[in-house]
Amino acid sequence: MLSRRGFLLTSALAAGAGAVPTGSAAEKKRRASTDDLRDWGAVRRQFELDSRYIHLGLFFLASHPRSVREAIESYRRQLEANPLHTVERLVFGGPQDYIPAKVCNAIASYIGGSADDIALTQNTTTGLAVIYQGLPLKPGDEILTTSHDHFVHHEAIRLAVERSGATWRKVPLFDSYDAISADGMVERLRKAIRPETRVVGVTWVHSSSGLKLPLRRIADALAVVNRERAPERRVLFVVDGVHGLGVESPDIVAMGMDAFSAGTHKWIFGPRGTGFVWARPELWSVMRPLMPSTSSAELFFAWAGEKPPEMPARATWFSPGGFQAFEHYWAVPTAFEFHQAIGSQRITERIHELNTQMREGLAKMPHVTLYTPRSTELSSGMVCFDVKGMSPQQVVQRLAERNRILASTTPYAVPYARVAFGIQNTPDEVEKTLAAIRSMA
Ligand SMILES: Cc1ncc(COP(=O)(O)O)c(C=O)c1O
Repeated sequence: MLSRRGFLLTSALAAGAGAVPTGSAAEKKRRASTDDLRDWGAVRRQFELDSRYIHLGLFFLASHPRSVREAIESYRRQLEANPLHTVERLVFGGPQDYIPAKVCNAIASYIGGSADDIALTQNTTTGLAVIYQGLPLKPGDEILTTSHDHFVHHEAIRLAVERSGATWRKVPLFDSYDAISADGMVERLRKAIRPETRVVGVTWVHSSSGLKLPLRRIADALAVVNRERAPERRVLFVVDGVHGLGVESPDIVAMGMDAFSAGTHKWIFGPRGTGFVWARPELWSVMRPLMPSTSSAELFFAWAGEKPPEMPARATWFSPGGFQAFEHYWAVPTAFEFHQAIGSQRITERIHELNTQMREGLAKMPHVTLYTPRSTELSSGMVCFDVKGMSPQQVVQRLAERNRILASTTPYAVPYARVAFGIQNTPDEVEKTLAAIRSMA
């Protein structure tokens, strides 16, 4: 006999992600509160940021806008009042209440593609582990990556090859920051592919330098390589997309990668501790889950019947299971609604305008070395630089102490000073930051 919980779980999942109606009264109210976002001052007022500072590291970990805070608070209250019934209804209840599907729907409606191909994770890091540990790698296979990726990306690869017996290799995509071109990077990556290369793993926007990679063009180059290969020997394209999501165009699935990991707690300003992986369904079907999932009925039934699951793997098998910080998870759709209420295109234009203003200002200063490319084709929401005669730490410290400007250093072997202008910032804040850096000459 199946438990009630198991049965309900099935009924919720059998309905599929697409069947969940959206728009409860509470959601409609929240949406209404995000409607008045026509000017950037109104957007800024949605955040409870300490107004004594100029905040230039808001991508680091999200401060939540009002609607997200309210959504979290409303779910938190429900959990405080009655954790058992709240979880039974929203996680193990009928399809109309099943929140994980709403979360996947919200993400899919933003990035394109199907909600069925999304696994929910806690952050970009967990997602990268889910991908690399899940890939069917074996001795003789190779993962090709670049020297510019984040520690957690390289570490996810290192741990995966250690277990699978595959190997990995890092290649630089350029020799110096003043000689970066899209053509050059695509060509370098393409030339670095060897017969044993099974995966190419890159980062959309580098948090080491602010460089944005031409993902579509890399995908096209890999498609040419794959034309000569049997389907099971295809080179898979894996992307750490956390600093592109919420800044660049949301047509992410259409860019042609095989798997994409991002946190929703950076540029989407979603609940802290939330993220996702999107992958092509054919890829999910040959991958192996890293952790037990508690959102897949067929896994539960296979277990109850004391046999292994009979069907191929799918995305929900890869969402790390067990109880979660539910009030945060459930509020993820509200963050996407907030973003969409402002408008993706407006957000992209605004972030590019502010960061271009910053790059152009820095480029005029002889005592500054700018690492981020000046073109918007190769840059995004971050600007990385050095001031002659000062360490990046000294630059950041001075900005904070003298000017109340909160910048960061890049967490890489060679660190730089880094500022990032997001939807909460203004052209005036760019000018104040430029003036502060000018005074360091
Ligand atoms: C490029 C890149 N990837 C991954 C991460 C880790 O992100 P998360 O905290 O969502 O795991 C970071 C952190 O800022 C990053 O810069």
